[in-house]
Formats: sequence, C-alpha cells, structure tokens
Amino acid sequence: MRVVLGSDHGGYKLKEAIRTHLEAQGLEVQDLGTHSTDSVDYPAYGFAVGTAIIKGEADLGIAICGTGQGISMAANKIRGVRAALCTETFSARMAREHNNANILALGGRVTGVGLALDIVDIFLKTEFAGGRHARRVNLISDIERGEEI
Ligand code: RB5
Repeated sequence: MRVVLGSDHGGYKLKEAIRTHLEAQGLEVQDLGTHSTDSVDYPAYGFAVGTAIIKGEADLGIAICGTGQGISMAANKIRGVRAALCTETFSARMAREHNNANILALGGRVTGVGLALDIVDIFLKTEFAGGRHARRVNLISDIERGEEI
C-alpha cells in the first residue's frame, strides 16, 4: 500500500511518528512535508495530500494539523476527496467501511501518538463495504458535480 502524508507545523511531530510507524511496516510512504515546526499554512498541505490522492500517486492519505479541522476542510474542497477527521478508532473504521474515506485527518494537538497510531492502522486496513454504501458515496459525488439529489 502507498500512503501519502502531509501536515502543518501543528501536526509535524505526529506526522513524523506516523511515518516511522508506517515505514517499519514496510509501507511505501510519500511525505509531502512540512519538514519542521516552523509555522506554515495548513491549506497548502491539505491541498497537496488531496491532489496526490486524486492523481493516484497514493492509495490513502493522512493529513494532520493542530486540530485536524482546517486541513480536512481544505482537502475536502478537492473534488473526489473524502477526508475524515477521526479522534477514535470506531470512526476511523466506519469512515473506510461506510464512507470510503480516502484521507484520514488527525489533530496533532488533540490525539496522542499511541491512539493516533491505532487509528491509522485501523483506517489503513479497513476495506470499503460497497453495496448500499456505494450508492450513498455516489450521492456525495453528485453533490460535488452540482447536481440536486
Ligand atoms: C495552526 O496554529 C493551527 O491553526 C492549525 O494547525 C490547525 O489546527 C487548523 O485547523
């Protein structure tokens, strides 16, 4: 599996921990930065992770800012991105199983490293269930195209 990571300064430390964790599992990791705790703008990193997903450069993405709020909002502006902000494991599993989320958003100032790594593992290993959930996810795509549903 190919995973793309991106964070602002508020998510930098957690991103580093996640990258180490994923590389230890032998996953292919693309790290789009940021590469220090210097202040940067989270929309740029949400855009970068979302763009990598849409271009097919990675299977799933992980986007982190201080709260996970801003970077998920930014990523979700890209057509085809479904970024899910998760603070516990149940939502991470459901975001994949029911919503076919393609980006996990985390808050580096909200979620501790241990819990965050569990959330990441569950998000990456859970498959989309399809079926009635596919119809609902397709309705989200219809909204993106400006259609009334
Ligand atoms: C940066 O200070 C902070 O606003 C950012 O990391 C994030 O929490 C925004 O949603």
